[in-house]
Amino acid sequence: MHSSLVVVLFSSLFVATVSGTQCNITNPCPKSAPCCSEFGFCGTDDFCLGGCNPLTSFSLTSCKPNPVCKSTTYNFSNTSRILSNATYFDGDVEKYDWTVDKGSIQNSGSDIAMILTSSNGGTRLSSTRYVHYGKITATMKTGRWPGVVTAFITMSNIKDEIDWEMPGNRVTEAQTNLFWQGHVPATTNGDTSKGLSDTFANYHDYAIDWQPEELNFLIDGKVVRTVKKSDTVDSRGVSTYPSTPSRVQLSIWPAGVPSMPQGTRDWSGGDINWNDPDYKAAGQFYAQVKSVSIECADKLPDRNITSYAYGTNSTTDTPSVAYSNASVLLNEGVSMRDLSVGGASGMVMNITAVLMGVALLI
Ligand SMILES: *[C@@H]1O[C@H](CO)[C@@H](O)[C@H](O)[C@H]1NC(C)=O
Ligand SMILES: *[C@@H]1O[C@H](CO)[C@@H](O)[C@H](O)[C@H]1NC(C)=O
Ligand SMILES: *[C@@H]1O[C@H](CO)[C@@H](O)[C@H](O)[C@H]1NC(C)=O
Ligand SMILES: *[C@@H]1O[C@H](CO)[C@@H](O)[C@H](O)[C@H]1NC(C)=O
Ligand SMILES: *[C@@H]1O[C@H](CO)[C@@H](O)[C@H](O)[C@H]1NC(C)=O
Ligand SMILES: *[C@@H]1O[C@H](CO)[C@@H](O)[C@H](O)[C@H]1NC(C)=O
Ligand SMILES: *[C@@H]1O[C@H](CO)[C@@H](O)[C@H](O)[C@H]1NC(C)=O
Repeated sequence: MHSSLVVVLFSSLFVATVSGTQCNITNPCPKSAPCCSEFGFCGTDDFCLGGCNPLTSFSLTSCKPNPVCKSTTYNFSNTSRILSNATYFDGDVEKYDWTVDKGSIQNSGSDIAMILTSSNGGTRLSSTRYVHYGKITATMKTGRWPGVVTAFITMSNIKDEIDWEMPGNRVTEAQTNLFWQGHVPATTNGDTSKGLSDTFANYHDYAIDWQPEELNFLIDGKVVRTVKKSDTVDSRGVSTYPSTPSRVQLSIWPAGVPSMPQGTRDWSGGDINWNDPDYKAAGQFYAQVKSVSIECADKLPDRNITSYAYGTNSTTDTPSVAYSNASVLLNEGVSMRDLSVGGASGMVMNITAVLMGVALLI
């Protein structure tokens, strides 16, 4: 049997204790806890921010709309606009450009290091704003350790996804992939660029140039892969091209660990050696990010536009997206999320939730 590896980069290996009912397309959230989080649990407050899935929430308007794109360069020499714990984010994109969703970062004065330890499960940052087509360039160095994966992706609330991912055992390569609404694609969907100068020792510019009809991946300004929307039409005639507003995410995550599927562990270079001399010396693994620049493709029709909102059109395979002037802030006067809010069952569960990376052997 011919086996090939498909790597599905969803989000992060999150281990968090929350209460709440589970939500999915057949079981949307109840009115009392209307927002379906990126991990598939119903709640209020920050469940309604980044990652909130409109199609599995109580209604299409339960989630806060997605803050609009802004063309700028985020320079990580200064971390004052990175919120170190996403739990405390109130939706205010004037205050914070990024949240640390898990793990931690360190600032060297010229860049940040995303930290992976044997106990933290890795680190992930998300942009507070969304991109609805645009060119995103991350200037970064990867990890260099088998089992340790460095990633730079875009991810929408309904799990349209575009990836750069760099397994640490191959520091002269970088891999790309794309996903539509979380579906596992054909094995031919992934691609590898080879012949890079050491990606641990050297900064490279990894770019995702995502336009409505065409997606280009670039390294150091050179196009290494092109995917046309017209090439993604499946046998039903549905385009499986990523088309919904997406956050930019940066991460380092442990793929080579026993809790991961065997295919993921193999793909990432085998299990992590926590006795690696680098780990012993520094007490951590890391990946460095110097800056992220974003050139939005859209021109806002007026200055009052705050956000992108999903249309009232869930019957089509790809929901419509419209500009909105609605507030992106969580309600004033509502304090930190009440972890006990969880709808009818209110059961407490341990989410070892899906997954910064699930590699499936198919
Ligand atoms: C959807 O969620 C319900 C619980 O709310 C669960 O029983 C069911 O198995 C889920 N379906 C899928 C396809 O995950
Ligand atoms: C980031 O800011 C530092 C310090 O101000 C500056 O030296 C560096 O050139 C900036 N980098 C980018 C990519 O703008
Ligand atoms: C970082 O930026 C903030 C505001 O943008 C500024 O107040 C602060 O002084 C800067 N910190 C450093 C170390 O440059
Ligand atoms: C973020 O804050 C929440 C709530 O206080 C806490 O449970 C969680 O451990 C914090 N996360 C990190 C990575 O410190
Ligand atoms: C923007 O909002 C202001 C204040 O609500 C309003 O006066 C103005 O007409 C709006 N502009 C547009 C283009 O809608
Ligand atoms: C429904 O979706 C289709 C396809 O995206 C779009 O052309 C149409 O305008 C949408 N209708 C509404 C009412 O949003
Ligand atoms: C949004 O725009 C509509 C009309 O264009 C206006 O009535 C409404 O007050 C605006 N809402 C906000 C929050 O600016």
